[in-house]
Amino acid sequence: MSRAAVSAAGDSKRAPTDDVLPTGEAKRAAVKSMFDTIAPRYDLVNRLMTFRMDVGWRRRTVDALGLTPGSLVADIACGTGDLCRDLERAQMRPIGIDLSYGMLASARTQAPLLQGDALSLPIRTASVTGLTCGFALRNFVDLAPFFIEAARVMRRGGRIALVEVASPPNPVLAWGHGIYFGKVVPQIGALLSDRAAYRYLPKSVSYLPPVEDMLDTLRSAGFAHVERTLLSTGIAQLITATRA
Ligand SMILES: C[S@@+](CC[C@H](N)C(=O)[O-])C[C@H]1O[C@@H](n2cnc3c(N)ncnc32)[C@H](O)[C@@H]1O
Repeated sequence: MSRAAVSAAGDSKRAPTDDVLPTGEAKRAAVKSMFDTIAPRYDLVNRLMTFRMDVGWRRRTVDALGLTPGSLVADIACGTGDLCRDLERAQMRPIGIDLSYGMLASARTQAPLLQGDALSLPIRTASVTGLTCGFALRNFVDLAPFFIEAARVMRRGGRIALVEVASPPNPVLAWGHGIYFGKVVPQIGALLSDRAAYRYLPKSVSYLPPVEDMLDTLRSAGFAHVERTLLSTGIAQLITATRA
């Protein structure tokens, strides 16, 4: 799934700060341990480094589902529960799932929470009407199995909304954003949380496949009406689709 400096084999337990990014089981273990470490200050650093724009992006994500109150929605990689809270505000019924116990332990939501892997969801087949995922696609070991799992757990006609970071299409903005995300964010992270983790986070964007490949993978998994919307000049992206 990768297109940049991702190591070929995931057999060793690499720190995610290495220049060569881990893959396979090594990536899964490194990501889990990293989020366990940064969980207590995750929300604070997120708000600061995005100037609170992340709050609006998540609300857009919930709106983009277009589901009615009462809908059961799985929030995959729920972290500290931000999307779960937005879903609750919209009177939906979220279930949060995350790999990291530390993130779940720091969550502030009334939603039921489960520890589990996005690539093997602890949810019954065709049981949810909606599925959200915030800023986690690049952390998964692979995207195709995640999209297949998402299709499995969703009812036909259900809606998926995935929000993720992106790079602006305008080259000048992309340059500025590259400096901010690659140099300033790690400094903020080092100051307030964990240096290694916030050096890894900008690099982890290289795990994302080219956009068209990602959208095709979603279609192949069983989704229709696949759409991608850029948010805030393209520093974030929202991908929506309907379970066919
Ligand atoms: C950047 S955080 C995003 C958290 C939350 N969705 C938000 O909007 O703030 C990424 C989350 O993905 C989780 N994660 C990473 N790999 C995962 C996997 N394979 N299965 C489930 N959760 C995973 C991490 O533990 C972390 O909580």
